[in-house]
Amino acid sequence: AAEDGLNGWLRYARLPGNNTKQAIVPSSIVALNSTETSPVYVAGQELQKGIKGILGKTVDVTSESVDGPSIVVGTIDAFTAAGGDTDVIPELEEDGFWLNTEGDTIEIVGQNECGVLYGVFEYLSLLGQGNFTKVTKATNPSASIRWVNQWDNMDGTIERGFAGLSIFFEKNVTVANTTRVSEYARLLASIRVNGIIVNNVNANPIILSDENMAGLGRIADAMRPWGVRVGISLNFASPQTFGGLSTFGPLDESVIAWWGDITNKLYEKVPDMAGYLVKANSEGQPGPLTYNRTLAEGANLFANAVKPHGGIVMFRAFVYDSVNLNESNWKDDRANAAVDFFRDLDGDFDDNVVVQVKYGPIDFQVREAPSPLFAHLQQTASAIELQVTQEYLGQQCHLVYLPPLWKQILNFDLRVDGEKSVIGTDILSGKRFGKELTGYAAVVNVGHNATWLGSHLAMSNLYAYGWLAWDPTDNEVTILQDWTRLTFGSDKTIIDTITKMSMESWPAYENYTGNLGIQTLTDITGPHYGPNPQSMDNNPWGQWTRADATSIGMDRTVWNGTGFAGQYPSEIAAQFETIETTPEELLLWFHHVPYTHVLSTGATVIQHFYDAHYAGAETAASFPTQWAKLVGLVDPQRFDETLFRLMYQAGHAIVWRDAISQFYHNISSIADERARVGSH
Ligand code: GCU
Repeated sequence: AAEDGLNGWLRYARLPGNNTKQAIVPSSIVALNSTETSPVYVAGQELQKGIKGILGKTVDVTSESVDGPSIVVGTIDAFTAAGGDTDVIPELEEDGFWLNTEGDTIEIVGQNECGVLYGVFEYLSLLGQGNFTKVTKATNPSASIRWVNQWDNMDGTIERGFAGLSIFFEKNVTVANTTRVSEYARLLASIRVNGIIVNNVNANPIILSDENMAGLGRIADAMRPWGVRVGISLNFASPQTFGGLSTFGPLDESVIAWWGDITNKLYEKVPDMAGYLVKANSEGQPGPLTYNRTLAEGANLFANAVKPHGGIVMFRAFVYDSVNLNESNWKDDRANAAVDFFRDLDGDFDDNVVVQVKYGPIDFQVREAPSPLFAHLQQTASAIELQVTQEYLGQQCHLVYLPPLWKQILNFDLRVDGEKSVIGTDILSGKRFGKELTGYAAVVNVGHNATWLGSHLAMSNLYAYGWLAWDPTDNEVTILQDWTRLTFGSDKTIIDTITKMSMESWPAYENYTGNLGIQTLTDITGPHYGPNPQSMDNNPWGQWTRADATSIGMDRTVWNGTGFAGQYPSEIAAQFETIETTPEELLLWFHHVPYTHVLSTGATVIQHFYDAHYAGAETAASFPTQWAKLVGLVDPQRFDETLFRLMYQAGHAIVWRDAISQFYHNISSIADERARVGSH
C-alpha cells in the first residue's frame, strides 16, 4: 500500500475479472522519434508498464513500424514522416495531442513531445478506469503556463508543507538521490503540468551556490524526460547578501551584470530552465521599492537576464505593506494592495514577465472575492496562483476538495468594459486581451511522506488542479470520479461515497470555520490552523473582520468603506457596492453589518453563524460513517489511515464549532435561538 501511495492515481491496478479485455489492446507499441531521455521514450515505457498492470498483458516497444495493429506514439512531425494520415487530425497547439482508438491501430500523436506523453497518460487513464469506448479526440491546453510551486526551504523544511521534508533539498544543498524527484515529475506529467519552481518564494540566496546550481542540473535531468521544466525562486537582495556587491538596486550596472552572469551559469546547468519566480517587497522580502524603483523595473531586471535563454519571470502580485496598515483607519485595507501597486504598471513589464496573482485579494481564504487585478492586467501577461497545499483549509488533516472553490473564481465574469471576461476561459486563456503567455500556478508542497501530500484523499486536489489548468470548464465531479476510479477502483459504493464526502467538504469547512465571506477565522498569528477569531483583528497583517459588540464585516464599499469594491469593472463594482446586490456568501467581505442583519433565509447574521457551525460540524461528523462503508473495498492501510484523519476532522470540527460560536456569543451577547451556544 505504501507503493500505492507513491503512485498516487498512477497505480495501474489490474482490472477485475478475467483477461478478456487484453485483445482490445495491440501487442506492440511503436514509439517514433524516441531517445532514452525524451518524453516520447518515457511515454512508450509508461504505456508498456500501464498495460501490463491494468490488463496483465505484455507488449513490446519498438521504434520501427510493425506488421499488424500497434499503438503508435509520436510527435505530429514524426507521425507524418512515418506516413501516418494527418488529414483527419484537427490543428494541434503547443502541448496538444490527438488520441484515436477507433481503428486497429491506436494513434497517440502530440504536437510536441509533451503532447505525446499527455496523450499516453489519457489513454492509460481510460484503460485504468475500464473504459474501452472508442475515442477520437484532439485536445489543446487552455494556457501555456501550467506550473506548480514548491515552498521548499534549503534546509529541507517546507513552508506550509504538511507531508514531511523536502524531496529537493536537505542541509542547504540539493539532494543527491533524485528518485522521488522523477516520481513527482511523472505524477505532474500525467496531469499535464509543464513547469515547477522548486524552492520557497521566501528564497534563500544559497540556491545560487555552484554546488546547488549543479544540483539543480540534476533535478532538471530527473524531470526533463517527463516534460517538466524546472525554475527557481530568487531573493531580490542576492547580489548584496550572496554576491558581496554593495547594492542590489535593480538599475545598477554591477547588479545587472551580476544577475546576467548568474543566469548564464544557471542555463549552463539547466539549458531549458523555465525561469524565475520572484516575491519582492512583500512580508519583509527585499525588492525594487527599497531603491525607489518600480516593481516593473524590478521584474524586468530578471526578464532581461532570462530572455536570451527563452525563460520567463513569474512576478508575484502578492505585494503589500503591512507596516502602514492601521485597523483604526476605516479606509485601510490590505485587499486594495495588489491593484494599488500594479494598476499603473500595466504596459511597463517586459513581454516575458508574467504577473502571478493569488486567486483572492487577501490570502487563500476559505471564501474570497476574485482578485480584481485580473481586470487591470490588460497588456501584462498574467497567471492565477492557487493552493493545493491546504494552508488555511485544514492542512490536509481535514478533507476539503478544493475545485468547487477554485471554480467560483475561474467561472467569475469580471465584465471588463461591459464585455464577457470570465477569469478562466477568457482571461487566463489569454483570449480576452490577446495574450500568448498566461496560465496557472499552484502551491503544492509535496514532501517525503509516502502519500505525497500527507493524506490519500488530498491527492484529488493535485489531480484536479492539472485538469482545470488544461481546461477550466472541466467538471469537478467528473474529475473527482476519474481520480477515484484510478486511485481506489471502480466499485460504485467507493465512487458514490467519495463523491458525496468530497462535494460536501468545502461547504462544510466553510460552515464550521468562517461564513459569509468573513475569511477563515483561523489562527493568523502563525500556524494558520485551528480556530482563533480574536486573532483576526488588531493584527498588523491587515486580515481583519472589524468585529465589535454590535456589528461585523469589512466595509469595502466606495461610498463609505475602503473603496475596494471600486477596483472592479463598473458592473461588478456596482454589484458589490450595495448589500442587496452582493451575493450573501460575500456579505461580510464587502459590508459591515449588525449581527441582527437579516439574511434571505430569514436568519440573522449571528444566528446564521451559529446554525452554520452546527451544520458544518454535523457534516464532518458524518464523514467517518460514510467512509466506514468502504471497509473491505479499500485496502486496510489506506482505509485505516483515511478513517483516522476523518475521525480527527470530525472532532476538530466540533472544536471549531464551539470556539467560533462561543466567541461571537460572548462579544455580541445575542443568544442562540436554539439554545446550543453559551448555555453550558
Ligand atoms: C502566506 C503564507 C506565507 C507565504 C505567503 C506568500 O502569507 O502564510 O507562508 O510566504 O503567503 O504567499 O508569499
